[in-house]
Amino acid sequence: MQQKQRVLVVGNGGREHAIAWKLARDGAEVFTAPGNAGTALCGTNIAVQATDTDAIVAASKKHGIELVVVGPEAPLVAGLVDALTAAGVRAFGPSAQAAQLEGSKIFCKEIMHAGDIPTAMHRQFHSMEQAQDFLEAREDEPVVVKADGLAAGKGVFVCDNRADAIAAVEQLRCDPQFSKASRGVLIEERLDGVEVSIMAITDGRTIVTLPPLQDHKAAYDGDEGPNTGGMGAFCPAPFVDDTLRQEIEERILVPTVHTMRRRRTPFHGVLYGGLMLTAQGPKVLEFNVRFGDPECQALLARMESSLLDLLNAAVDRRLAELAPLRWKNGASVSVVMASEGYPGTVTAGLPIRGLDRAAALADIEVFHAATQIDPADPQQVLATGGRVLAVTATGSSLARAKLRAYEGVREIRWRGGWCRKDIADKGLRHEREQAATVDADPAPPDSAPPEATS
Ligand code: AMP
Ligand code: GLY
Repeated sequence: MQQKQRVLVVGNGGREHAIAWKLARDGAEVFTAPGNAGTALCGTNIAVQATDTDAIVAASKKHGIELVVVGPEAPLVAGLVDALTAAGVRAFGPSAQAAQLEGSKIFCKEIMHAGDIPTAMHRQFHSMEQAQDFLEAREDEPVVVKADGLAAGKGVFVCDNRADAIAAVEQLRCDPQFSKASRGVLIEERLDGVEVSIMAITDGRTIVTLPPLQDHKAAYDGDEGPNTGGMGAFCPAPFVDDTLRQEIEERILVPTVHTMRRRRTPFHGVLYGGLMLTAQGPKVLEFNVRFGDPECQALLARMESSLLDLLNAAVDRRLAELAPLRWKNGASVSVVMASEGYPGTVTAGLPIRGLDRAAALADIEVFHAATQIDPADPQQVLATGGRVLAVTATGSSLARAKLRAYEGVREIRWRGGWCRKDIADKGLRHEREQAATVDADPAPPDSAPPEATS
């Protein structure tokens, strides 16, 4: 029998549990650093922090790791893939330079400008005072204020008017995280439309586009409340048909990969486009350089092909040879369960009940994020942070997947644990509207759109 490939997944969130789960199903021997109570079920957790580059390199050597998959952005921006590669360890993910696409919003805008990639118009400023002067002098319009540098979702302010925008700049000026860490501030046109997440795996030349998803960034139902890391996702997002997907590839993903190569910062790994579908076509809100969380959980729940083969092919620069990916028919929905107080301060260490009952349901995977096994009781899982679980279901339709996901949610409880109740509703509404249009205006058979090619 062939030996299992030893793979190390770096990170400890729901995304990393989903990656570890899928790689284990694909036949890998999985290690996770540092992992959580969920990844412990897929293989071996190694007690090393994701941002401790030297310790990750040392652990990879010690455990004979043949492939490292880096989940979160911080270690990528800090150069983990460079350090692993220099040490002779194969690693999936971009170099520190290429990770600037997420690490610096100003770098990202420069790449988009060089590649003629559609995005919001913007101005950049190197001081908060300049940004404020600019806002005072121009028309009172909705804008978005963004701090440069990694901000874990906290550096973006979507503003209705000038007063809000000036207040946002002032808030950045007073926040030590930004006044110190950020190299500047961006003010950009506020775009209107539907948001989608589209990810592609690239080896620097070839791209493999994955099915589109939609995240839910706001904390509460109806997209109310503060911005979060993401409260749920569904796949596929029906707003992106094959024609639009092709346009996104041709106008956004491919030119980005080409521009990165031309500028001698070739991009390898996951290119994640956070897009706004505007009346003028798809525009980039941001690029991330890794799988989205919770998009990854909803995506991998539907993936039938081997993720292990896909990531190995990307690292070996042979994506062009790979057969088209296969996905489960229907849809998937991932509902994030969070601790009381998230996205603010939360109480850690509360016992979670019902995980086994939820996991026993068909078509459901409960991916763990902020969890750990109770040191006093190995059978008990504790909630240790803000986003705790991503209850993920597949179904033959989006409606069925949603129903199933919430059946899973119903089994699980801990004190103060909560979730949004409307994950996937925008997708369902879109499906109903499309069906109503088709019913009202049936197209003659000879006007059917051409066959999709991807
Ligand atoms: P980011 O952290 O860059 O993903 O931004 C957080 C959220 O802010 C995005 O998911 C959007 O909902 C919103 N956003 C960012 N840029 C814009 C923009 N130019 N127009 C409208 N909304 C935006
Ligand atoms: N879900 C959005 C992100 O991962 O950045």
